[in-house]
This record gives sequence, structure tokens and C-alpha cells, in this order.
Amino acid sequence: MKIAIPKERRAHERRVAATPETVKKYIALGYTVAVETGAGEGSRIPDAAYEEVGASLAPDAATLLADADIVLKVQRPILAGEDGPDELALIPKGALVLALMAPYDAPDSLKAYAQAGITAVALELVPRITRAQSMDVLSSQSNLAGYRAVLEACNVYNRAFPMMMTAAGTIAPARVMVLGAGVAGLQAIATAKRLGAVVSATDVRPVAKEQVESLGGKFVMVESEETAEAETAGGYAKAMSEDYQRRQAALVAETLKKQDIVICTALIPGRKAPTLVNDAMVHSMRPGSVIVDMAAEQGGNCTLTTPGEITQVGGVTIIGLFNLPSRLATDASGLYGKNLFNYLAPLYDEATKQLAIDWADEIVTASVLTRDGRIVHSAFAAQDGGQ
Ligand code: NAI
Repeated sequence: MKIAIPKERRAHERRVAATPETVKKYIALGYTVAVETGAGEGSRIPDAAYEEVGASLAPDAATLLADADIVLKVQRPILAGEDGPDELALIPKGALVLALMAPYDAPDSLKAYAQAGITAVALELVPRITRAQSMDVLSSQSNLAGYRAVLEACNVYNRAFPMMMTAAGTIAPARVMVLGAGVAGLQAIATAKRLGAVVSATDVRPVAKEQVESLGGKFVMVESEETAEAETAGGYAKAMSEDYQRRQAALVAETLKKQDIVICTALIPGRKAPTLVNDAMVHSMRPGSVIVDMAAEQGGNCTLTTPGEITQVGGVTIIGLFNLPSRLATDASGLYGKNLFNYLAPLYDEATKQLAIDWADEIVTASVLTRDGRIVHSAFAAQDGGQ
């Protein structure tokens, strides 16, 4: 069985789907591993490091993928007509392809995967059950992104984060507000606290209160009967009613006026990100304030975010940069690579040296999008004529 690790070609992507550490483990299991030249460059992993652990190098994607059984990627394959080379066309029929497939953002891609006859696995759909914790790419990448978001804010904030008492006078600590206290938000809170900021946070899930407070943050939220039901069985937030949104907007508006930095992390799986910061709220912030909109790729939590850009609105800097984990590519690749290995290792039968996938397994059914020429995932199968 040959595992192929291509160089990522989508914009803003510096990560790679396997590191020398995981390549070594795949080879120990019995796989053959090939890596495209330069695949680790963005994560500061030289080709030689892969060769040293037993991988072969392929000079280009076509050579690499020609006889691949398994393809490990970070971003979903580029399709014909998208910006970049047609990566899907290079992947052999029947190959198992694992990546962040973004099925909700790119639903049309699923038909293309089915037609290409690949088995496409969306790692972000792995359920958050205990057995799958070590495969949880959303957590490993969001954690790094939350940390990086605070550093991005620091970088453009013209002031210090901690309180400083000096002979020349006292500098007040920065006031940081985190909207959404999931994995990224909690790491943003922890990072901002470590830097000396005064931190507050909000969420629609009441369980977030204890988590925020345990990190030294102040928790504010609009409580209602609705919030008792705001969390799905999977731990995710639901979209809130218009009435709730109005009351939450009043709370956020009042709080934001007193903040220097806002880190927006609120997401609802499969939907556009909720709008939490409107134009008027941005204009109410003090000059020099910074908003980091981590939800920019999902439509943004702030109405004035320019996706992918850093802009100035009045005196406020709004950071809508894409792919924050990629800005810590070495660590992000390290953790992502381990998540992938932990997903793949149980699917391999060492005795026969073949994949032995239990298609009825909960983790497999939740994450496999296409197989045998069809869209098989229950959330998307209707696109395929309901098959
Ligand atoms: P996410 O990335 O989907 O969303 C980020 C945060 O935004 C969430 O906390 C969500 O409640 C919040 N949010 C959504 N709409 C909002 C609104 N209108 N206003 C304010 N906040 C809003 O969430 P993430 O980070 O993936 O975490 C989701 C849950 O999964 C959490 O409960 C987390 O503790 C849990 N989790 C469980 C794991 C496990 O058991 N293996 C691993 C990682 C996370």
C-alpha cells in the first residue's frame, strides 16, 4: 500500500499532511511512503528529513500520485476550473483521500469526488467521541489558531498588553473580549491572560462559563430558556432566535465600547458564522482598537471584516486573515499529521498489509463522504439523487 503526500497548492496553505515522525510510523506499520519534493517547505521540513526516515521523493504531483492507494492532504483537492492545477484528475480511481474537505463550503466538490471514484474522507467531520479525541483536527488546529489570533492582534496594537507601573507613569492593561468560548476562544483567553490582559468572553452555551472562569476570564452572556438548549449533542452551538440575537447584540454593544481587542471565534457548523459585531459597534470602539475575525472564512462575525485582509475602519484595525493555523505551520502540521495517523492506523491490517475498513464504524460513517462512485454521507447523499 502506497501513501502519497503531495505539496499543498491552495492559497494561504503552508501545512503538510505528514511529518518525518508520522512517515516513520507509517513505514513501521508496513506502508510505502512517497513525498512530493518541497511538500514540507512551508513547515520548515526539508525533503532530506523525509528521506532519512525511509520515504521516497517524487519530483511532481503526477509522478507522486500515479500509483497512490492513500493520499494525505491538508486542503481538499483542487478541481478543474478552480484556481490552480486540477489535483483531483491526478488521483487514481479507488484511492482513499483524507483532508479537510470543507464539505459545507464546497458541496459541489462531492459530486466530483464521487465521479472520480475516490473515497473522500472529511477529517473535520470525525465525531467528538472519546475514542476519536486523538483524531480531532478541529481541536488541534483551532487551539493553535486561537493562540495565533491574539498574537496577530498584539502585532498591530500599538500598545502593551500587561499593566506596567514605571517611574514615567502607569500603562493600563489591554482589555480583551473573546466572542465564542470553544476551543479557539478558550486558547485565545489563556493566551491573552498570559500576556497580562484583562479578559472577558461570551458564548451561547452556558457550560462555557465555568471554562472561561477557570482561565481567569470574566464570563458575560444573555441567559434565557433558549440557552439551556443552545448546545447540540455533539457539543456545538445552535443558531439562536432573532429575539435572542437582539438581546445579545445589546450586551455586546455595551461591552465592546470598553474593549481594546476583540477576538471573534463564533461558529455554527454547516452555516454562515453568526453576526455579532455590526457596523455601529465597530464605530463605537476606541481608536487603536483591534478586531480579529477568526470566522472570516465562514462569512465573519463582524460586518466590516474584509475576508483575507487586514483593514482600517475609522481608527479600528480589523484582521480577517485566512487560515491562522497555517501561520504556525510547523506545529500545525505536527499535530495535524498525528491526527491523521491516529485516524488511519486502526484502518490498517498489519497481517494482510491492506486496509481493512469497517464501513459501519461510527467514526468512518461520520467522515467518509464518497465511495464506489457515490456520495455516501447521510448529510450530503441527497445531492446524489438520494442514493
Ligand atoms: P466552534 O468552532 O463550532 O464554535 C466556536 C464557539 O462559538 C463555540 O463555543 C460556540 O458555542 C460559539 N458560538 C456559536 N454561536 C455563537 C453566538 N451566537 N454567540 C456567541 N458564541 C457563539 O466550536 P468548537 O471550538 O469546535 O467547540 C464546540 C464544542 O465542542 C465545545 O463544547 C467544546 O468543548 C467541544 N469539544 C469537545 C471535544 C471532545 O469531547 N472530544 C473536543 C473539542 C471540543
